[in-house]
Amino acid sequence: MRHFLPNGEELIIRPPVITDAIGLLRNFQRMTQETDYLLFTPGEALEMTERSEEDYIRTYLDNPNQLMLVAIVNDTLVGSVTVNHSGYQKKAHIAEMGIAVERAWGSLGIGRRLMTAMLRWAEQHEKIQLIHLQVFGNNDKAMHLYRNFGFLECGRLPNGIQQKDGQYIDLVTMYRRVKP
Ligand SMILES: CC(C)(COP(=O)(O)OP(=O)(O)OC[C@H]1O[C@@H](n2cnc3c(N)ncnc32)[C@H](O)[C@@H]1OP(=O)(O)O)[C@@H](O)C(=O)NCCC(=O)NCCS
Repeated sequence: MRHFLPNGEELIIRPPVITDAIGLLRNFQRMTQETDYLLFTPGEALEMTERSEEDYIRTYLDNPNQLMLVAIVNDTLVGSVTVNHSGYQKKAHIAEMGIAVERAWGSLGIGRRLMTAMLRWAEQHEKIQLIHLQVFGNNDKAMHLYRNFGFLECGRLPNGIQQKDGQYIDLVTMYRRVKP
C-alpha cells in the first residue's frame, strides 16, 4: 500500500520479504538505542543476526495466523507492526500486537497507518476476535495511539518493568475487539 507523508515522501506499507532481514535488524538495533519503551535492550538487539531475522520473518510468512507489515521510506525500513498468535487452540481467537516506528520518522502518521492496516487484516481474519498488547505505563504516545484505535486498558502489572536506571514501571495490558 502506497501513502504519502506530510513532507511529500512516499511511504510503502507491505508484508516483508526475506531480503528485508538486514533492514529489519538495523531498524530494530537503532530503535533499541533511541527508546526505552521496547522490551529488548540494545545489547540483546546486538546479539541478533541477519540470519536470525530471516528466520523471524519466516515465522510470519509461514503462519496465516500471524502478521508482519513493514514501513518503508526512501528504501529504508523505518517501522513495523506484528501480530503474534500463541498457537494454542484455546487462544485461537486472540492475538498480540506490537508496533515500532523510528524516532526520525515519528509523528508523521506512520504508526496510525500501520495500525489501520493491521486492524483491517485482523478484522478479515477468520478466527481472530480480539487483539491485545502490552505497553509500558509511562509510554503516553503509544497509549494515545492505541486509544485512538479503540483499545482499552484492562490490566496493569505494578512494577512489571525495571529500566536500566533501576526505575520500575507498570506494565499495562490493552485490548480491542475486532469482531462484534
Ligand atoms: C508509539 C509509536 C509506534 C507511534 O508511531 P508514530 O508513527 O510516531 O505515530 P503517529 O504519528 O501515527 O501518531 C502519533 C500520535 O501520538 C500523539 N503523540 C505524540 N507525542 C505524544 C505524547 N508525548 N503523548 C501523547 N500523545 C502523543 C500524536 O499527536 C499522534 O496522535 P494524533 O493522531 O491523535 O494526533 C512510535 O512512537 C514508537 O515506535 N515509539 C517507540 C517504540 C514504542 O513505544 N513502541 C510501542 C511499544 S508498546
